[in-house]
Amino acid sequence: MPKRDDAIIRLKGVRKTFNSLVVLEDLTLDIYRGQTTVVIGPSGCGKTVLLKHLVGLLRPDSGSIFFDGADITRLSESELTPIRHRVGFLFQSSALFDSMTVAQNVCLPLMEHGVRAKEYLEQRCREVLRVVGLDGLQGRMPEELSGGQRKRVALARAIALKPEVILYDEPTTGLDPIRADLINELILKLQAELKTTALVVTHDMNSARKVADRIVMLYNGRIVADTTPGGLADVKDETVARFVEGRATQEELNELTYGRASQGSDDEGKDA
Ligand SMILES: Nc1ncnc2c1ncn2[C@@H]1O[C@H](COP(=O)(O)OP(=O)(O)OP(=O)(O)O)[C@@H](O)[C@H]1O
Ligand SMILES: [Mg+2]
Repeated sequence: MPKRDDAIIRLKGVRKTFNSLVVLEDLTLDIYRGQTTVVIGPSGCGKTVLLKHLVGLLRPDSGSIFFDGADITRLSESELTPIRHRVGFLFQSSALFDSMTVAQNVCLPLMEHGVRAKEYLEQRCREVLRVVGLDGLQGRMPEELSGGQRKRVALARAIALKPEVILYDEPTTGLDPIRADLINELILKLQAELKTTALVVTHDMNSARKVADRIVMLYNGRIVADTTPGGLADVKDETVARFVEGRATQEELNELTYGRASQGSDDEGKDA
């Protein structure tokens, strides 16, 4: 395990609730520089909520979040700006601006960072679109793209500023297997060449195994596994094992009644 000093992001005792729903409970996690940490866990367990805390899009009820040694938990929006310039965020929903072209969406972080030189903007836009296989679509509107293409435009936008940290929320969801694999390779390449720190949220266990240095599983607001891809098979916890193997419990299977309230009511129907 790397040293504590190598943690670029640290969460200490983070708790987040929405009304009575406890999403994150006493979450303590260090994300190490230059590593790819993959977060897995069931739908609704708080993975996106966790990512949003790292750039101040959500605030914890209690606990602290540190970025490169600085406590960012209670920074104002303007104080957060320099942090956000160091972090690329690929949103689960892509979050493209519908009224802006692909090029305008991709260049947005650069413009917000004060880059105005048209030639540089065009060149960087072409570079990152080429990386995701979409050079040539600069003039398209988001509504003219497929879901997978939108995701790749969002990824191009996330890497446009050459961020030190990239937060990927389900980067391969909705992509065909070849595109998904290319995104996995891209995550690996950015890490190898730019020493990017990556936090990848995914349900795609192939992707998780391929890109992860470390795999963390969230369940009921807590970390239930913290291991390497190779170590996953040795985790004894039944919840973790079932998730990794994609195996439902008998109780979950019993809920697949497809409209039959119970065996009893079905029999009644036959008698009638
Ligand atoms: N802004 C919000 N207001 C109220 N509840 C929220 C809000 N954001 C998230 N939640 C709730 O917090 C829980 C965790 O949501 P989150 O989006 O983090 O799940 P997730 O693990 O990313 O799931 P998925 O794998 O489906 O994307 C869910 O129950 C969700 O309904
Ligand atoms: Mg999510």
